[in-house]
This record gives sequence, structure tokens and C-alpha cells, in this order.
Amino acid sequence: MIIAAILAGGIGSRMGNVNMPKQFLQLGSRPVLVHTIEKFLVHPQVDRVVVLTPGAWLGFTQDTLAEHLPAGHNVAVIEGGDSRNNTLRNALRWVEDECGAAADPIIITHDAVRPFVSHRIISDNIAAAEAHGACDTVIAATDTIVRSDDGAFITVIPPRGSMYQGQTPQSFRCNKLRALMNTLLPEEEAILTDACKIFSIRSEPVALVQGETHNLKITYPYDLKVAHALLGVEEARPSGKNAVNEA
Ligand code: CTP
Repeated sequence: MIIAAILAGGIGSRMGNVNMPKQFLQLGSRPVLVHTIEKFLVHPQVDRVVVLTPGAWLGFTQDTLAEHLPAGHNVAVIEGGDSRNNTLRNALRWVEDECGAAADPIIITHDAVRPFVSHRIISDNIAAAEAHGACDTVIAATDTIVRSDDGAFITVIPPRGSMYQGQTPQSFRCNKLRALMNTLLPEEEAILTDACKIFSIRSEPVALVQGETHNLKITYPYDLKVAHALLGVEEARPSGKNAVNEA
């Protein structure tokens, strides 16, 4: 079984003064979150989609999905957590309730604010998680990465050829992810904002899936402007129909 968990539990503080979390902002004719969900709904290998959203926005999320997705859609909406890790924990708890403790489905975790994730990236995540138990979507670093431990002087410039930038999805066998998260010490919990890092600090393999620059994350107002430009390109493509309501 393949479950997509759309992480929409954040409040988008870096977007500045907007009246709703960035995942609900309009991108073309639909909210960002709806674009993201649609990418998973139309993927034939994905069995269920669950959306994790801030508690105060649960009703709004349900109404938004009712307005934009076909009647009788099977997308579950549940409450996220106060940190990205806790949102992920809520997703794992939901999976266990839905599938039973004995099942070990694949969970594809994806930022709600990356609405341009491609069909190919989702397929490659499923294949890599099935083969290796965990995977991360990355793109090769194009800028030189400079590390500075004091923020004033360079500590080291690692060779660019082995540097990558992390995107999402990140996909896992649920039981392994749950077991590793349960081993976290409080001091580790505080610094581990990335589920793949949990695997990596426990020396567990995480396979790389080729990401795309197009798989942009909306963090700042500038990113939303870029997303509008990209949307124009996507909707102009004859095969770019991802809107399940508009097919
Ligand atoms: N996220 C989540 N639960 C949280 C925090 C973040 O599900 N408690 C999700 C966000 O909704 C987003 C994704 O994780 O889809 C990536 O996080 P980020 O871009 O940092 O989102 P926010 O936390 O909303 O943004 P900011 O840091 O600017 O407040």
C-alpha cells in the first residue's frame, strides 16, 4: 500500500503579512494545497492521500477540498503538529490506525508548498522506497556550498560534486521510520527537522531520487511569483492537465 502524506501543518511565517498559511494562497485558479494534492490523486500507484493541517484550519481545509476536488473524494484531513516532526508523527499514527500495526506501507511525505512535484518524481520515490526502505529527493548543488561554523569566516568549502540540495518527497517504509523516530533523544529531536537525517544519523541507508529545479518550494513572496510564472508554462502544455476536476 502506498500512502501520500501532504505536510500542510505550518503557518508560513516567512511569507510575511498574509491572512492565511501559504499552502492556502491562490495559485492560478486553485489554492497551492489543491495543486499539490492533485499530483498524488492522479498517480495510479497512490492508494490514499492524507493532508495534515493546523488545528485552527481543519474546517477551512475540508471546505477547500470539497470545493475543488470531485465529490466523494477520499482525501483524509487530520491535524498536524507544532513542529514538522510532530506533523510527521501524526501521519504515522494515522497510517497505523488506518492500516493496522502489522501492515508496513510506504509513506510518501511531501511539502504542501511544492505544488509542481512531477509524476516521475513520485514514481521514482515509490520504487526507491520499495527497494531501499528510505529515499530523499535531491538536486545537484549548482552554487558552491560554503560552510561557516561561526557565521563570520569560512570553515570549509566541500567539493561541489558531492553536494546536493534536499527537496521533497521523502519516502519511507512506515515501520522503520516509526522505529527510528522512537529512538530520538530530546536533544536530537530539537535539531532533527528532516526525517532523512534521522536515518542518516542512525547509519541507515537513504537512496537518492533525482529532483527537479521545477519542484520549487514556496517559502517567500518571491517564490509565489515564480510559481505563478511556472504555472503558466505547465498549463500551456497539452499533457499538463493535472486538475482532476478539469480533465
Ligand atoms: N509543516 C508542517 N507542520 C509544521 C511545520 C511545517 O506540516 N509544524 C509543513 C509546511 O506546511 C510546509 C512544509 O512543512 O508544507 C515545509 O515547511 P516550511 O516551508 O518551513 O513551512 P512553514 O513552517 O509553514 O514556513 P515558515 O518556516 O516560514 O513558518
